Amino acid sequence: MSYGLLKGKKGIIFGALDSNSIAWKVAERCHEEGAEFILTNAPVALRMGELNALAEKTNSEVIGADATSMEDLEKLFDAAIAKFGKIDFILHSIGMSVNVRKGKPYTDVNYDWLTKGWDISAVSFHRVMKMAWDKDCLNVGGSILALTYIAAQRVFPNYNDMADNKAYLESIARSFGYFWGKEKGVRVNTISQSPTPTTAGQGVKGFGGFINYAEKISPLGNATALDCADYCVVMFSDLTRKVTLQNLFHDGGYSNTGVSQEVIEKFEPDAE
Ligand code: NAI
Repeated sequence: MSYGLLKGKKGIIFGALDSNSIAWKVAERCHEEGAEFILTNAPVALRMGELNALAEKTNSEVIGADATSMEDLEKLFDAAIAKFGKIDFILHSIGMSVNVRKGKPYTDVNYDWLTKGWDISAVSFHRVMKMAWDKDCLNVGGSILALTYIAAQRVFPNYNDMADNKAYLESIARSFGYFWGKEKGVRVNTISQSPTPTTAGQGVKGFGGFINYAEKISPLGNATALDCADYCVVMFSDLTRKVTLQNLFHDGGYSNTGVSQEVIEKFEPDAE
């Protein structure tokens, strides 16, 4: 259903890779709600070619940018400004750990890979915000969002160095968000999403086990990518103008639940 919540709003959406991507669903929902935006991803991801279908569907332009390259980001923001003038929202939906990808355990990380993953998954959020800041291209009342995971606060052993990257990402949202609020009237928040079966999500060892576990713990069940897209729409809309510097849990209640009846029953000594 469309509510016209983003009518007239312009933005940039980072990180749609394929139709499972959270950013893909966000783009579809933003389009339904009346927004116009540029889709961007790393040049290597664009070579897969899937993004063109989304661009067509949402009547948007695709511009490649490696989010760790200030040069690429400058070209992207210049193109956005040329097209839209000022913009209203940015979604950072980017994550990658080389150690996770190559199966290196946390106790034996490769530090070059760690640094690369940290730059892609966390520092890139600072880079994106710095470029937008330097270009002064967000309207007052604008909204900047990044996606994160609860491994920033709690231990999930297989999440590896991504846990540290997410903690850093959330801290950047607060630190830069202060200045965005004070000087530009712009909100900066992170949404901490349930495990979601995407390319990045399924790269985590044991993903099948922990998505099912989260489903059983959460009173409302796991939030899907589409649910997340709906939340992003609300956070980009004018209905949340005083929400900033927050890490917003979007997880069916997982983060505040100790245990659920289903899980207790599974561990009853006389179960089986
Ligand atoms: P995805 O794999 O579809 O998206 C990750 C995106 O990051 C891809 O589009 C990829 O091309 C992009 N990317 C990687 N390196 C890049 C670079 N150098 N420059 C620009 N883009 C780059 O997976 P998903 O799950 O949609 O991930 C989106 C965000 O949601 C990530 O921040 C992820 O950590 C977060 N998240 C995912 C959860 C899950 O279980 N899938 C749970 C909570 C948060």
